[in-house]
Amino acid sequence: MERIIILDFGSQVTQVIGRRVRELDVYCEIYPFNKFPFADPEAKTIPEDVKGLILSGSPFSVRDANSPKVDLGDFEGKLPILGICYGAQYIAHTQGGAVEASNTREYGRAELTVAEENEPVFKDIPKTSQVWMSHGDSITKLPEGAVLIASTPTVRNAAYKIAEKNIYAFQFHPEVFHTAYGGTMLRNFVKGVCLCKGDWTTESFIEATVKDLKAKLGDDEVILGLSGGVDSSVAAVLLNKAIGQRLHCIFVDNGLLRKNEFEDVLEQYKDMGLNVIGVRAADRFMEALKGISEPEGKRKAIGRTFIEVFDAEAQKIKNAKWLAQGTIYPDVIESSSVKGPSATIKSHHNVGGLPEKMNLKIVEPLHSLFKDEVRRTGRALGIKRELISRHPFPGPGLGIRVLGEVTKEKLDILKEADHIFISNLRTYMTELPPASNGFAAEEADLSPVFAPSSGKRLIPLYDAIWQAGTILLPVRSVGVMGDERTYEYTIALRAVVSNDGMTADWVHIPYEFLAKVSNEIINKVKGVNRVCYDISSKPPATIEWE
Ligand code: XMP
Repeated sequence: MERIIILDFGSQVTQVIGRRVRELDVYCEIYPFNKFPFADPEAKTIPEDVKGLILSGSPFSVRDANSPKVDLGDFEGKLPILGICYGAQYIAHTQGGAVEASNTREYGRAELTVAEENEPVFKDIPKTSQVWMSHGDSITKLPEGAVLIASTPTVRNAAYKIAEKNIYAFQFHPEVFHTAYGGTMLRNFVKGVCLCKGDWTTESFIEATVKDLKAKLGDDEVILGLSGGVDSSVAAVLLNKAIGQRLHCIFVDNGLLRKNEFEDVLEQYKDMGLNVIGVRAADRFMEALKGISEPEGKRKAIGRTFIEVFDAEAQKIKNAKWLAQGTIYPDVIESSSVKGPSATIKSHHNVGGLPEKMNLKIVEPLHSLFKDEVRRTGRALGIKRELISRHPFPGPGLGIRVLGEVTKEKLDILKEADHIFISNLRTYMTELPPASNGFAAEEADLSPVFAPSSGKRLIPLYDAIWQAGTILLPVRSVGVMGDERTYEYTIALRAVVSNDGMTADWVHIPYEFLAKVSNEIINKVKGVNRVCYDISSKPPATIEWE
């Protein structure tokens, strides 16, 4: 095992650095800058499997009194180091160079010219190429012993190295898509400088995890809550591979899932050989939601009822010692991040009280994986593409998409409308969008269909979208149908693209598609006479309406 450590100074894109390193089949971990990342903080010993260190960017200036600081002496000369943006400035600032405020904040594309043809970190990169800059300060004097290795027309010290300490520093961001050869630069650092072999693959992850789970769980019984989503499903299959039928999965029908979803997904789980108990509890959830119209109140009622139903079912499983959860790496980073648990997202830990209540030990087989790695792992484990590529769906489900108080009537209307929208997204074919970050893996995940007539590569519109759904507005408006006046509900359609749900943009869905869906909903779903499309981005809106 070999790993790269990324120290996070609070940049928006630190996680992207992690994903890029993982794409090189090299395992990496992200830690807040203010914590020595290894077990032995006193002796400051660096474990042998750690092959290199990357310092991230930051919203701070190194000149700020309260800027994030790290003792580079702990790592210098012991590991190859790459500083990115703030990281590059921090190295300059602390090693005898100078960083000064520049008159203009430089943000955007720039043309990088490599100074030295044989520089290993720029191997296989043209003499000039596009990079992405985002900084206010500039490095005006290089640190002691540093050599300039690349410049742009406006930023002379765009990249430097301190050869005897094996330190590299880039003022630009190699991790973002707009840096044309960013992936190659990171490969050169990780494989050429840190000498990582790159043997961390999906297959090796599965093999190692199954072995670990076997050792950790022994003959114990384990309980896992399935949600129908990607994370819990992949966690279940991985555990099933390790301990077989000693994994007891519980899948609760809260009545707030999509049309036919409970039955369909339960069937798929059984086909996958999982030992799964389906619990029908829709009535209990409806009862709990009665009279509540405020969003957080609804979330709490749903969360509480879930815990009660799940706990009652779990009590029936004798000798259970473990609760398995589908926690993934972004959740882990989030809860220990520099900024602290983010204030920008709603509490997603709807069942946060569950582990304490049940008095079980926690096992989280996916805690080191990013979302795209979870999907890849799922595919390698033979889970159907249909399940793997499902959009995220909130725990409280349609309960927060019927705005205001949830009634059976409104819920039924919403289920029908949602079904029409989602089915059409699955059948409507669209041109493969340019990969959002230019890296091939994501594109391959979409498995496009080649349309010989047009020469275009097509995918279902559903797959070009990060998340989609319908919302039932709690107001009625006037319409006319045949000769009759109607007074019915409005359905809003929502479709967004996003990387992680923290920010999102509305999808520019073709008009003809919107027309078809609107027609079908108004004609087929009784109780709806108007359809709108939500064209708000996050921020300032959120993905869900409640
Ligand atoms: P927002 O609405 O905050 O949503 O922009 C961001 C992402 O989180 C999902 N979401 C939830 N997921 N429980 C969940 O499990 C919740 O209470 C919850 N609220 C929002 C939302 O669907 C989107 O993917």
